[in-house]
Amino acid sequence: MSLALMHAQKNLGNTKDNPSVGCVITKKNNLISVGNTSFNGRPHAEDNAIKFSTGSLRNSEIYISLEPCSHYGKTPPCVNLITKNKINKVFFSIKDPDSRSYNKSIKLLKNKGIYVNYGLLNKKANIFYRSYLKAKKSKMPFVTYKLAVSKDYYIVNKKDKYITNQYSRGRAHLMRHNHDCIITSSKSIITDNSKLTCRVHGLEHRSPTRIIFDKKLRIPISSNVYKDANKFNTIVFYNKANNKIKILKKLKVKLIKMPIDYKKNIDLEKALIKVKNLGYSRVLLECGVDMGESFFNNNLIDDFKLFVSKKNLGKNGKNNVSKFVKNITKRRKIYKEKVNLLGDELFSCRLK
Ligand SMILES: NC(=O)c1ccc[n+]([C@@H]2O[C@H](COP(=O)([O-])OP(=O)(O)OC[C@H]3O[C@@H](n4cnc5c(N)ncnc54)[C@H](OP(=O)(O)O)[C@@H]3O)[C@@H](O)[C@H]2O)c1
Repeated sequence: MSLALMHAQKNLGNTKDNPSVGCVITKKNNLISVGNTSFNGRPHAEDNAIKFSTGSLRNSEIYISLEPCSHYGKTPPCVNLITKNKINKVFFSIKDPDSRSYNKSIKLLKNKGIYVNYGLLNKKANIFYRSYLKAKKSKMPFVTYKLAVSKDYYIVNKKDKYITNQYSRGRAHLMRHNHDCIITSSKSIITDNSKLTCRVHGLEHRSPTRIIFDKKLRIPISSNVYKDANKFNTIVFYNKANNKIKILKKLKVKLIKMPIDYKKNIDLEKALIKVKNLGYSRVLLECGVDMGESFFNNNLIDDFKLFVSKKNLGKNGKNNVSKFVKNITKRRKIYKEKVNLLGDELFSCRLK
């Protein structure tokens, strides 16, 4: 099951409405096959693992990170694939909250004489599926706020564009791959001219959609995010139109007019509902602390990820966030992740 959960991680953020599932098939204590949900959510993990296996699956065992589906959607139910292939033991970790499948597989499989056991590593799976569980019951997407700071808690380096080392940055790019959209602010784009793509070798084409909050359409047309908007989905939430609209549309930037709140900022709650309605359920928030704090104060952040450099910036540092981080950690415990970043450190905090 642990291996199944590892495989589930592979396409997290890339399976549209479907959960990202991992699956392992064994027979006589040998590993026969593994599979995970394909890009865009189909074929399902079970289907892939069954297809990848070469010999007969009669009397084999299948381990799935989530309850197998039992309804006819765009593909036939995985429960049928299991019975058709004469697999005789099914282990899954947690039940699928999707009402079309919830709790249904157990009876169907048992009626065919198949042994069913669920709950294995359910604590781990419940954490892994937090965004999927939220997607099924909330109108809001799951939001992870990612921030990089120097050892003395500055988020801007006046001398260099980077704060953390290349290993932290690589990890941050991998995080992008595991989300279906990035949200950032006009100010961060104007100052950094960032591309916000996933630049991990082999995963470039899996870059998430970029959603930029730019109330007055201040971002220059020559910015990197607009240069490749024909290749990577780019959406701008704005409130006040100007003559850039026509050019942006030509560049294939999608523009969505959003209401403002009492502070005259883009209304964050309404914006997130819109993001979910557009089909995104895993948001990576990559902005400075002005907008980040608004998300936090409105209780809109699910997870906080903090990369901490091993270096101080001293007088080369700008925008100190130690107060903000303290506010977060006052609410919830922050823990160090077991990942080797060669000097830098990654901390995580579950806010919901
Ligand atoms: N180290 C890091 O991890 C990291 C990450 C990102 C950015 N940065 C750095 O952070 C600096 C910018 O940080 P910042 O804190 O000054 O700005 P910020 O938080 O990135 O952006 C502030 C802007 O966000 C927009 N916004 C939209 N809705 C908002 C809301 N409800 N509440 C607040 N703002 C809202 C506003 O611009 P509009 O009025 O145009 O909508 C506002 O001016 C940049 O220099 C960038 O390099 C560092």
